[in-house]
Amino acid sequence: MASNLFAKKSINKLIQESEGGGSDGHGHSLKRTLSATNLILLGIGAIIGTGIFVLTGSAAAQFAGPGLVISFIVAGIACAFAGLCYAEFASMIPIAGSAYTYGYATLGELIAWIIGWDLILEYMFGAATVAVGWSGYVVSFLRDLNINIAPEWWNAPGISLIQDPKTSAWVQITDQLTTQYAAQGIDIASLPHATGVFNMVAAAAILLITVILVVGIQESAKFNNFIVFIKLFVVIAFILAGGYYLLRNPAVAAQNWTPFIPDNTGEFGHYGWSGIMRAAGVIFFAYIGFDAVSTAAQEAKNPQRDMPVGILGSLVICTILYILVSGILTGLVDYRQLNVAEPIAIGIEVTGYTVLRDLIKIGAIAGLSSVMLVMLLGQPRIFYSMSRDGLIPPIFGKVHPKFQTPYISSILIGVVCAITAGALPIAQLGEMTSIGTLLAFVIVCGGVWYMRVHEPERTRPFRTPWVPLVPILGMLVCFAMMASLNVHTWYRLIGWLIVGLVVYFTYSRKHSKLNKTPMVHSGK
Ligand code: ALA
Repeated sequence: MASNLFAKKSINKLIQESEGGGSDGHGHSLKRTLSATNLILLGIGAIIGTGIFVLTGSAAAQFAGPGLVISFIVAGIACAFAGLCYAEFASMIPIAGSAYTYGYATLGELIAWIIGWDLILEYMFGAATVAVGWSGYVVSFLRDLNINIAPEWWNAPGISLIQDPKTSAWVQITDQLTTQYAAQGIDIASLPHATGVFNMVAAAAILLITVILVVGIQESAKFNNFIVFIKLFVVIAFILAGGYYLLRNPAVAAQNWTPFIPDNTGEFGHYGWSGIMRAAGVIFFAYIGFDAVSTAAQEAKNPQRDMPVGILGSLVICTILYILVSGILTGLVDYRQLNVAEPIAIGIEVTGYTVLRDLIKIGAIAGLSSVMLVMLLGQPRIFYSMSRDGLIPPIFGKVHPKFQTPYISSILIGVVCAITAGALPIAQLGEMTSIGTLLAFVIVCGGVWYMRVHEPERTRPFRTPWVPLVPILGMLVCFAMMASLNVHTWYRLIGWLIVGLVVYFTYSRKHSKLNKTPMVHSGK
């Protein structure tokens, strides 16, 4: 017999299971080692990354101009709404699995499956996106040391590149670039060309992080804390150095910030207000990660108190930093020149503090490593919950007897993610991650509202304020950002969900454990 599509897991049972150790059936469980500070650092580790270090540049150049600051505010507000909803769920159901588990306890198995499937986009595609951003900074840093890696091996298959005659850097050919060179009297056909084969650098990064993760979370958390400090140092150094330069040269800022919102070109999403929304959808990627804190609930020492602190604390810190960074960056550099692999480093170059430029590259490399780590940490833990529920094969839930990590799942994910990072371009990966995560946020916001109506009595150590206003606004802003993304990204999302439903109806529904235990129709 197949399970009921709308069957729910009992929250009390979920909590009991986790207190029983969240065992994989062999007595091996995840360890509770993370404090509130660890969780905030885990959040910052997941948040500050490719979004701010890489995508900021192309979003300003192609979609929003200096108005990118507004895009960051819009995306930050959406995340604050969603973050409040995540915090309520994470404190109410403090166990591994994030939105997937919340969905199972509240909206039923089918929706839970859709969220779990959708979260693969966030975590696995997210890690792949970051790996590609990482490869850009690594290659640029190595070039400064006169170590040149052939462009074929750090670009996705089919990406066409030319070597810039001035900087000798390899840049991707775009219409914008062709026009820019033509205006300088340079014929692009006369420059050295290369075509990407496979991004080996990005793939290698993913495999390396996978090895670290298999060895264990305690070691990983220490490694993460160390890197997060370097990353914060770099971002704050950029803000101070760039801000100081702009205060001393207000004319530069005035020129680059005018017009603050460039006129729309006539095409939706290209500057103007639609451009600001499109850029918000793209740089939303920069905020992804605060929800990853919730996937570590089962490893938190005091989840009821510390989950909301971890989620909201990391989000607030990053929002303030992003608004400052995007404002300063577009003040330092003409937005049209920001479509590069390392925009933050280009920004600091303007200030003349070249020592900082190198430090920023090193910090970005370290920072992006910590993002990959948290994303690759989150995915196996979602699979762990899904396999315990029988929706994916039990092998995904197997915990290593010595390291106490879901090692088989980590290794499988690492390999698939490495291939994805090597094979697809950053813009496609980034938009897929954003749309998948936004969809999960919409469902989580809806879930909080639904639960308040259907289970008002349940204990909520953290309560989202102004329900249903906050969840409704969260859903609306997230959906508006989804709607402004590229139509091809929508087709890919729909394709992904269809594949997910096929898996659900052919495998998961038949193997669901809810099927084998008395069914629970209310979450109580
Ligand atoms: N927020 C993370 C980043 O920007 C995913 O890389």
